[in-house]
Amino acid sequence: MKIKTLIALSTLALLAACGDKTTTTPAETSSAPQVMSSSEPDASAVSEPAVQGASEPVSKPVNEDGRGPNSQARKDAFNAMLEEFGLMGKMVKGETPYDAEAFKTAAATFAQKGLVPFEHFAQDGAGLNGEAKDNVWTDAAAFEAEVTKYKTAVQNLSEVAANNTDINKIKPAFGAAAATCKSCHDTFRQEK
Ligand code: HEC
Repeated sequence: MKIKTLIALSTLALLAACGDKTTTTPAETSSAPQVMSSSEPDASAVSEPAVQGASEPVSKPVNEDGRGPNSQARKDAFNAMLEEFGLMGKMVKGETPYDAEAFKTAAATFAQKGLVPFEHFAQDGAGLNGEAKDNVWTDAAAFEAEVTKYKTAVQNLSEVAANNTDINKIKPAFGAAAATCKSCHDTFRQEK
């Protein structure tokens, strides 16, 4: 339901953005005060809209990255889930001592937080999709297949972590989940 709402919202935003290109409404609105105070209303009303319309971006990115709001939301969610993913990764690599309870908790949290980025994959529009390649949407079935593979691996990891206290039994499940990150990034994410 949330995804549908986002798609509906972004569709509206796209429609609104298209409308801006073909109408002079924003320019007329902003020039209205000048028309009222000007001694030559005809001249300013005719010359200003074209200039303002040309320099106005179609849709505003939310930050200096040039990302739209959906891209920003998924980027934030990806980075948020790195907390648990990183904690598990360090234990798997032996960089921090294995703590079965801490790993289990991280894996359970990750099974929830790891889903959040995929609630934000509606398009923002041309040039505003961050590092998401166009094939996320043009090859939607393949993208969905990667998401499903990932969700299955993440769910499996949390089950294995919940039922084992031997890191060597958990390592393969962690490795399988990490492999699905790379598999999707290789195909659907642009290199920075
Ligand atoms: C089904 C595809 C897919 C899977 C699975 C996936 N990612 Fe991503 N990831 C993406 C795409 C696409 C982007 C770019 C999003 C954007 O810029 O709007 C991204 C962006 C990110 C970012 C944001 C980097 C930044 O700050 O710009 C991080 C971190 C990340 N992914 C980590 C992971 C990790 C860790 C996993 C696995 C546990 C994972 N991803 C699984 C597709 C995926």
